[in-house]
Amino acid sequence: MVGEENRLRQGLGDAFQGLPFTLLSSTDSTNLRLKEGAREGRFAPPYLLIADAQTRGRGRLGRSFLSPPGTGLYMSLLLRPAPPWNPGQITILAAVAACRAIEEETGLHPAIKWVNDLFLRGKKICGILAEAMGDQVIVGIGINLQTPPGGFPDDLAIAGALDCGADRLRLAGRIAAHLLRGMERLNDPAIVDAYRRRMPLIGRDITYTRDGQQKNARVTGVSEDGGLIIRDATGEKILRTGEVTLGSHSFLGME
Ligand code: BTN
Repeated sequence: MVGEENRLRQGLGDAFQGLPFTLLSSTDSTNLRLKEGAREGRFAPPYLLIADAQTRGRGRLGRSFLSPPGTGLYMSLLLRPAPPWNPGQITILAAVAACRAIEEETGLHPAIKWVNDLFLRGKKICGILAEAMGDQVIVGIGINLQTPPGGFPDDLAIAGALDCGADRLRLAGRIAAHLLRGMERLNDPAIVDAYRRRMPLIGRDITYTRDGQQKNARVTGVSEDGGLIIRDATGEKILRTGEVTLGSHSFLGME
C-alpha cells in the first residue's frame, strides 16, 4: 500500500502532494461513493477516490462501465470549481487531462471522440462521467489498462486497452494533477484548443440523433463550452449532449 501511495504521489507532483485520497480494492462505483460521502460531509473538495475494481461502474447515458479487478484504473475526483463555470468546460478539461497524463506516462497519443471518450488504435480505452452536484462536480474516469484475460465481452466490441504496462497509480496522480491545474484556469481558451487538437472528428461527416431521428452533418468545430459545432443543409447548430458516429460507423485513431 505504501508503494502504491508513493506512486500516486509521484504522479501528483510537488504542487498537489496535499491532495487527500482513498485507495479502495473494490467498490460499487467511485462516483457514487464520492457523491454519497460529499453529501454526508465526509469528503470535501478536492478529494480523490480510486478503486481497483467496481461492481457497478457507471457510464454516460445510463450505461454501465465494465470495471474488473487488476486491469483498469477507476478514479473519481470531487471538485468545487470557482464560478463562473459550466459542465461542458469540466468535460473538456477532463478529456484533455486524461490525454495529457496518458501521453506523459506511456508515450501513446489517444484521440478524443466528442464528448469525452478516448480512443486508441480505433478502440475506446477510456470513458469519463462528470456529474454536477450543486456547486461541486464529480469527475469519474475509467481507463482500460490491460485487455482482461479472455478479452472484452462480445457486446463490448468497441472496447480496447492501453496494453503497455502503464503504472496505474502514477497515471491516476498525473490525471488528478492535470485536472487540478486546469481548474485554476478553467476559462483559458488553451484548454479548448488542446481538446480540438486531439479530436479528429473536426471536418468529418457524422450521424447524430435528434428528436428520435438520425441526421447527417459535418463537424466544423468545438465551442468554448464544449458543444459540438455541426453544419448541415439547414445551417449551423451546436450539439450539447448525445453521441455521434462517423458515416462509416468507425472511428479513426490518431496514434
Ligand atoms: C462512459 O464511458 O460512458 C463513462 C464511463 C465512466 C467510468 C468511470 S470509472 C470511475 C467512475 N466511477 C463510475 O462509476 N464511473 C466512472
